[in-house]
Amino acid sequence: MATHRESMHGQWSSRWAFILAATGSAVGLGNIWKFPYMAGENGGGAFVLVYLLCVALIGIPIMMAEVLIGRHGRRSPTNTLMEICKEQHHSQWWQLIGWSGMLVGFLILSYYSVIAGWTLAYVFRAGSGTFTALGGDAVGKIFSDFISDPERLLAWHTIFMGLTMVVVARGVKSGLETAVTYLMPALFVLLLILVGYAMNTGYFTEGLSFLFKPDFSKISANGVLAAMGQAFFSLSIGMGAIMIYGSYLPQDASITRSSIIIALADTLVAILAGVAIFPIVFANGLDPAQSVGLVFNTLPIAFGNMPGGAFFGMLFFILLAFAAWTSAISLIEPMVTWLVESLGMNRVTAVVWTGACAWLLGIGTIFSFNLWSDYTINKMSFFDVLDYLTSNVLLPLGGILITIFAVWIMSEKSTREELSISHEQGYSIWRFVLRYITPVAMFFVLLKVAGIIGS
Ligand code: PHE
Repeated sequence: MATHRESMHGQWSSRWAFILAATGSAVGLGNIWKFPYMAGENGGGAFVLVYLLCVALIGIPIMMAEVLIGRHGRRSPTNTLMEICKEQHHSQWWQLIGWSGMLVGFLILSYYSVIAGWTLAYVFRAGSGTFTALGGDAVGKIFSDFISDPERLLAWHTIFMGLTMVVVARGVKSGLETAVTYLMPALFVLLLILVGYAMNTGYFTEGLSFLFKPDFSKISANGVLAAMGQAFFSLSIGMGAIMIYGSYLPQDASITRSSIIIALADTLVAILAGVAIFPIVFANGLDPAQSVGLVFNTLPIAFGNMPGGAFFGMLFFILLAFAAWTSAISLIEPMVTWLVESLGMNRVTAVVWTGACAWLLGIGTIFSFNLWSDYTINKMSFFDVLDYLTSNVLLPLGGILITIFAVWIMSEKSTREELSISHEQGYSIWRFVLRYITPVAMFFVLLKVAGIIGS
């Protein structure tokens, strides 16, 4: 019987607490802000289908791998990988996965906090009745005025980053569990209310067929890559966030079942957001491919035109900010735990350093919507470059390395023990999928991007 390590940062009180925290990490702006606009920009149905395939064939198996590696090592991702390599006599180079993960989490946090700041600002706009009885044009103008004001964006970015730092400094476990237990279901109910509104726009079927009728002529190779990147981003995999949460997981909890529940919940929230948003887009003659403003230009129309809309609108943006907050926490947790373990910093100092640097970098994202909007590389703004680099390049790269590590490098005995899927077949299926199917699927996407297959 192998001896199991314990994490110096504590442990979740139960498997359920882990599921809640990981769902809190997964469900966030990625589902409600990013998924709909990515689907809108990439032609709808075909993008959604590729996305769902990526979640099933790539996302869930990699999530399981991350959790099991985390639980086996019980430290920050970098030190976990180092420890496992030492134990099983492999090259220390594998810890680079942890390093790249810390960097990616940091880069994502820098812009994530800016966008989360927008949702905070919208709490007050919705609550004060700003959107009452407005149409698409007026709502669109409110958004474009807002993002062209760098000072205002900076203020909200600062507030959001501050809130994230406070929670991480106190240790992620206190508070997170309760927040997710009540707020996630509430967000879900509000999404259902929005879907109810969408059903009455008269354009519900148009919205559904846009989302679910795949038209492959509308998706480009880059769209396929974006769908895969979105699966990584939305499930929080490829950078160690799920790995660090796995390191706090009790030894007797089922990794398979937990991962499937988290992925299903995450996917459901994204789909519901799409189902709520697109009927509003078509009913108001808006452009589905309007990028980062989509949510902010559509949902306020619904809130402005439904009974009790100021209240529901305010509540919705509060809950969205909470969802973003529980994701942001997991973005810096790997770096913070590493600073504590390896440099002996105390938790508060580690958080202040990480948060302050991410805050500073976030200013670049703020400016890319106003002062620097003319500075582009390949038509991409500073924000676009960061987003593309993290979601479409670094997360999938981290994912493939985690895959290789879990099924080709780590001993079969240790992965089998961690997964302890009760029947032999379950383990064999996971291993087979991760050894052959996942890499082939990812390779397929890369070939498509390189223009080698299809058009
Ligand atoms: N999954 C989060 C979201 O959808 C973002 C995130 C990405 C969080 C990577 C942690 C790690 O909003």
